[in-house]
Amino acid sequence: MTDFNDWMHAIQSRTEVVLERLLPSGQVVPQRLHQAMRYVVLGGGKRVRALLAHAAGELCDADPARVDAAAAAVELIHAYSLVHDDLPCMDDDDLRRGKPSCHKQFDDATALLVGDALQSLAFQALAQPGLLQDAACQLTMSHLLAQASGSRGMAGGQAIDLASVGLDLTQMELEFMHIHKTGALIRAAALLGAHCGQTHNVSRLAALDHYAKSIGLAFQVVDDILDSEADTATLGKTAGKDAAQNKPTYVTILGPERAKRLAQELHDSALEQLVPFGAQALRLKQLAAFITQRQF
Ligand code: IPE
Ligand code: IPE
Ligand code: MG
Ligand code: MG
Ligand code: MG
Repeated sequence: MTDFNDWMHAIQSRTEVVLERLLPSGQVVPQRLHQAMRYVVLGGGKRVRALLAHAAGELCDADPARVDAAAAAVELIHAYSLVHDDLPCMDDDDLRRGKPSCHKQFDDATALLVGDALQSLAFQALAQPGLLQDAACQLTMSHLLAQASGSRGMAGGQAIDLASVGLDLTQMELEFMHIHKTGALIRAAALLGAHCGQTHNVSRLAALDHYAKSIGLAFQVVDDILDSEADTATLGKTAGKDAAQNKPTYVTILGPERAKRLAQELHDSALEQLVPFGAQALRLKQLAAFITQRQF
């Protein structure tokens, strides 16, 4: 896996550079808002969505310089979702990526505005003139990201999450929630990366979408497991939050062992989708393993 680690660090570094350039300087008015935006986006996170965009880009022969914008856009939406997720009116979490969460370091109103502004910045990055030669394809990318972030995607999943506190969900209901709150953006990351390439076509996109659907669900199953088993220092966010807040999770519904087995099954079915692509899907394959085996 040395080779995977090198690749991962290279993508993480280039994503950091792109995000750093996209974000206004903390000296620009309104300074406090810009400082808060930089505080939540830079210097943290695994950048799994950026990694997925680049891995899918590789599958479709994309120029990594174009994928950078797509990867940054998804990471910006993700960062906004975390800022809002941590607000007292949602999960009320004081720690994120090993530091005080945005509303603790700044204040609630700033955290709200940080989310608003990061969402706009994401679409600004994706809509930059000339990102792709094929303008229609570029428009499709904005459409995909908008759908994945909105009420039929991440924001909708978050609404279901909040409405589910204290409820006994069925496994199907829980899956529906997780596919939306987390899976939608992960799927979008992969599809956006692919759209940057010359060789994306209907069958490639369908296989990639199946892969990303499985791995997106696996991602949240593992998040639920880690919440109940890992410690706060390792996670960089408060452990045991789901139980404390009476949230239905894969651990409460299936128990830890079946939840782990499910994550492995989802990993395996994600990999089945990659078989036709051989070596060109290497990074996607390695990422599936990284997502399922991660410890934080
Ligand atoms: C945490 O996402 C929130 C979920 C959607 C489960 P990540 O685990 O990807 O968070 P970072 O970006 O690495 O901090
Ligand atoms: C959050 O799910 C999903 C988002 C859309 C941010 P969680 O509430 O489980 O994420 P963490 O555990 O706080 O990172
Ligand atoms: Mg939450
Ligand atoms: Mg949370
Ligand atoms: Mg969680």
